[in-house]
Amino acid sequence: MSEELFKNVISHAKEYGFVFPGSEIYDGLAAVYDYGQNGVELKNNIRTYWWKSMVQMHENIVGLDSAIFMHPKVWKASGHVDGFNDPMIDNKDSKKRYRADVLIEDQVEKYVQKIEKEVEKGRKRFGDSFDEVQFRATNPNVQRSQKTIDYINGRMKNALEAGDLADLKELIEELAIACPISGSKNWTEVRQFNLMYSTQMSATDGESQIYLRPETAQGIFVNYLNVQKTGRMKLPFGIAQTGKAFRNEIVARQFIMRMKEFEQMEMQFFVQPGTELEWYKYWKEARLKWHLNLGTDAKKYRYHDHVKLAHYANAAVDIEYDFPFGFKEVEGIHSRTDFDLGRHQEFSGKKIQYFDPERNENYVPYVIETSIGLDRMFLVMMTNSLKEEKLENGENRSVLSLPPALAPFQCAILPLMKKDGLPEMGEKIFKKLRLDFNCYYEDKDSIGKRYRRQDAIGTPICITVDHDSLANEDVTIRFRDTMEQKRVKIAELSEIIDKEVSMKSLLGGL
Ligand code: GAP
Repeated sequence: MSEELFKNVISHAKEYGFVFPGSEIYDGLAAVYDYGQNGVELKNNIRTYWWKSMVQMHENIVGLDSAIFMHPKVWKASGHVDGFNDPMIDNKDSKKRYRADVLIEDQVEKYVQKIEKEVEKGRKRFGDSFDEVQFRATNPNVQRSQKTIDYINGRMKNALEAGDLADLKELIEELAIACPISGSKNWTEVRQFNLMYSTQMSATDGESQIYLRPETAQGIFVNYLNVQKTGRMKLPFGIAQTGKAFRNEIVARQFIMRMKEFEQMEMQFFVQPGTELEWYKYWKEARLKWHLNLGTDAKKYRYHDHVKLAHYANAAVDIEYDFPFGFKEVEGIHSRTDFDLGRHQEFSGKKIQYFDPERNENYVPYVIETSIGLDRMFLVMMTNSLKEEKLENGENRSVLSLPPALAPFQCAILPLMKKDGLPEMGEKIFKKLRLDFNCYYEDKDSIGKRYRRQDAIGTPICITVDHDSLANEDVTIRFRDTMEQKRVKIAELSEIIDKEVSMKSLLGGL
C-alpha cells in the first residue's frame, strides 16, 4: 500500500506540473529534478512559511543570502574536506552501491518495528489495564529486541567514530544483511567517498579548485562578524538563510528525498557558552511545533537522537516523518558548540568573538543549528496530502489536501460558461483577488472537470460565476476537502478567502 502511495505521489507530481525529472528530453539526469509550474508555487510557499516564522516573527533572528562559491579554505576549516565522507559498500551481484551505515540502520528499524508490533499485541490483550511503560520494561520479546538494537547501535557508533571500515563490513556480515535487489550477501569492502563537488574558479589557473557548498551553514559562519557588527546583534541571536546545496550522493534514490542538488533552510542561533543545551531543547521543541502546526497527524512525526554525532556536534536530533518507505529525517537540530566559529578563527587568523557586556569578557559563541531540507518538506506535504477518494456517485477523485496557505493557488475563478458576460465578470473578480491571493482562472471544459483539476493541484476554494451572479452580484464557492458549496456576495469574497487560506492564519497557530 505504502509503495503504491509513493508511486502515485511521483506520477501525480509529474502529471500535474509539480516535479519533473531533470533534463528529461535527454532521458534525465540521475537524482536531479526540476520543479514545474505548480511545484514552484508550493515550494515558494513552504519557504515563505519557514522564513516568516523563523526570521520575521523573531526580533532576534535576521536573514542572509551568501554566495554558493566560497573560499576553498572554508571547507578545510569546517572539516568537510577531510571528514565529509560516506562509508559505501557494493553488492558484487547486483552491482548496486549502498551506504554501509544505512544498511545497518535499516536492520535496526526492523527490530524497532518488531517492538512496536509486540506493544500493539499487548495493548489488544490487556485492553484498558495496559501499562505501556511497564510492558516495554518487562516483556521478554521487547527486551530481547531492545538488547539487539543497543548492541548494533553501539557497535556501529564505535566503528564510525574510529573510522574502522573493516568492522562495519564485519557487522553487515554478522547481521546477515542481504542486498535488497540481488538478495545476496556478496559484498565488497567498505570505502569512504567524499560528497563534495569541486570545480575550477578560473579556467586558466589549475590551482584554484573550489567546491560547491554542501551546506548553507558555512555562509552564515563566515558572515557572523559582519552581521553581528552591522546589525548590532546581542546574544542570543540567529542568522537564517535558504539556498541550494550540492552533494555527490552516491546512493541517490527515492525521488526528491536524496538529490545531488537540493535546497536547505538553515538557521544558526548564537548563544552564550554553557546555555547551549537549554537552547537546543528550546529549538528541538519549537521546530516540531512548526511541523505539527501544518495539521499533520502527530503520529507521523518522531524524534531520532543521533547515535554517531557529526564532527562538530555535542548533541543532535533528527525530526523524522513517516514516509511511505518508513520514518526518515526531514530536519536536523544540532548543538554545534564553538567548533565552526573557532575553526574559522584559527584558519582565517581573524578574531571571531563576541564581547559580552554582562560578563565583561570576549568569547567565541556557541551555536544551535536548525537545518531542514526544502525538497524533503515538499515531499512530506505531497505524501501527506494526496488522497484517492470514492465519491457517493461512484466517481473517483484525486485530491491534494494541502494546508490551504501552502497550496499553489488559493482560489480558482471558474465562469460556468464562456459566453453571456460570465468570463468578463470572472476576469473582474480575478483582477481584484489577484492582489491578495494566487488565483487561477479557467473558463474551458465542464465545471465538473475543472473542479477535479483544482482538487488535484490542491486549490482550497473554487469560485463559480453563473447567470445569477450577473443579477445578484454573488457567486458559488466550493471547498476542496468537503466539496461543500455555498452562495456568497462578491463583495465578501476577499474576507472569506483570507480567513480560510491566508498565511497569516497559519502563522497565528505558532
Ligand atoms: N548544516 C547541517 C546539515 O547540512 P544535514 O543533516 O546533512 O545537516 C540537513 O542536512 C537537511 O538537509 C536534512 O535534514 C535533509 O532534509 C536535507 N538534505 C540533506 N541531504 C539531502 C539530499 N541529498 N537531498 C535532499 N535533501 C537533503
